[in-house]
Amino acid sequence: MGTESDRADNQHHSPSKRAGSIRKRLPSSTSSPRQPQASPPKSPPVDIGVKTPNQYPPDRPIHQAQDSLFSSSSGWTNYRGFLNLSILLLVVSNGRVALENIIKYGILISPFEWLSYALHDPWRWPNFTMVVLSNIFVFVTFFFERKLESGTFSNRFAAWFYSILFTLHLGAPVVVTLHVQGNPFFAAGMMSLYVVEFLKLFSYAHVNYWCRCARIAAAENQTKSPVNLATKKDDRYTYPNNLTLSNLYYFMFAPTLCYELKFPRSPGIRKTFVIKRLCELVGLSFVVGALSQQWIVPLLKNSMQPFSDMNLGHCIERVLKLAIPNHLIWLLFFYVVFHSALNLIAEILRFADREFYRDFWNAETISYFWKTWNIPVHRWALRHIYKPMMRNKWSKLQASIAVFFVSAFFHEYLVSIPLSMFRLWAYYGMMMQVPLSILTDIMGGGRAGNIIVWLSLILVQPMAILMYVHDWYVLHYT
Ligand SMILES: CC(C)(COP(=O)(O)OP(=O)(O)OC[C@H]1O[C@@H](n2cnc3c(N)ncnc32)[C@H](O)[C@@H]1OP(=O)(O)O)[C@@H](O)C(=O)NCCC(=O)NCCS
Repeated sequence: MGTESDRADNQHHSPSKRAGSIRKRLPSSTSSPRQPQASPPKSPPVDIGVKTPNQYPPDRPIHQAQDSLFSSSSGWTNYRGFLNLSILLLVVSNGRVALENIIKYGILISPFEWLSYALHDPWRWPNFTMVVLSNIFVFVTFFFERKLESGTFSNRFAAWFYSILFTLHLGAPVVVTLHVQGNPFFAAGMMSLYVVEFLKLFSYAHVNYWCRCARIAAAENQTKSPVNLATKKDDRYTYPNNLTLSNLYYFMFAPTLCYELKFPRSPGIRKTFVIKRLCELVGLSFVVGALSQQWIVPLLKNSMQPFSDMNLGHCIERVLKLAIPNHLIWLLFFYVVFHSALNLIAEILRFADREFYRDFWNAETISYFWKTWNIPVHRWALRHIYKPMMRNKWSKLQASIAVFFVSAFFHEYLVSIPLSMFRLWAYYGMMMQVPLSILTDIMGGGRAGNIIVWLSLILVQPMAILMYVHDWYVLHYT
């Protein structure tokens, strides 16, 4: 269709001029092999420049050689409208599922129920007591580091001492949880805190060990470096002046697992930023709780029979049905923890490094996903396992297996102990990441790699959850 300006343009051309312009275009259109040769007109030639009022000029061409948009040769890449359509379909289909859920079960969300669950037996909070008692391990580490600095104990003794201390640190919550048999949610929260504390204390001891080694090396070379010799007595950020309780406790609360003598600090606390993150934390935590109670719990209850009967078709249907709310909650959980909560803590403590995650959503390989979705854990793994192993001539594969083994151990620790049930599904899930990483690396990423990353997230998690819930159900109710 010509535009108004095109038409006006044509009307201003003389007939002879327009006939010339069409003669120029004809060869290209008639030379196409698919186009049949036009037979010469039998009737007297019509002056194609002549146009009666209200008629489209017959000489204006509307065809040209071009590809269809879906052909890759067309070079067309803008499918934004389809993205909108997909979002719309997602909203419509999940809206229908949500409506069906409400019609079937009514409103199940009950914050009062959560409160009474949390405040149940207020004089018996073993997990809270364990959290308070965990400070003993922080104090012991601190005083032991002071002794190591003064040369009372050797590094070899430190290795033995820390092996025992950390075994006790990770073992105490296991003994208490298995003995008390309390609420699995609170037990998992308390044990997560112990794991974070272990990773931090390990990093603290490791970095101070590096500082002692650097001090010995510097003394041998008779050089002065800011790490080994605290020339200015008021310099808090040089070894051993960093060995203060305030320095250690700042690290224990800071949103990082890797100790440094001096962390980058922001100039001040932005009140609006704090309020925004706090609102997100409270609001989205409520949404996660509500979605779990309204959507996940009935689904899990209905999944027991198909899993007990081992009906494959029904099992797959249950996994797919759980995949959507589970994935939604996982995404919300990611945002609440890695954006809202960690930024909130960082802002209050004026901790300036806010890289808690990178663009994991664009991951085209599993290995890229693992180095972008949880930066604090990734940095700890790189600094305290992966790189030390590589420096000691272990291969990349061996170092990766060691990292994923430690990660798998802690995932299983955080699931099995609170549930008092040892099934190893979380362990296998994490260990599976090594061959999957190799596979997506070989494939070379791309769109297929990104789809594999998303599929592994969407499907493996609900499968593992259903396995645990099924085993829990069989153990307690049959
Ligand atoms: C295993 C893991 C640490 C590998 O990380 P990666 O970034 O893929 O490893 P790479 O081989 O790319 O190397 C990373 C670093 O090691 C360095 N490196 C590589 N070979 C080295 C060598 N021979 N000597 C010393 N350093 C070496 C690289 O230079 C790179 O350093 P940089 O980060 O400063 O650039 C990572 O996949 C991981 O963190 N996995 C566990 C994640 C996890 O369990 N998270 C839990 C979330 S709940």
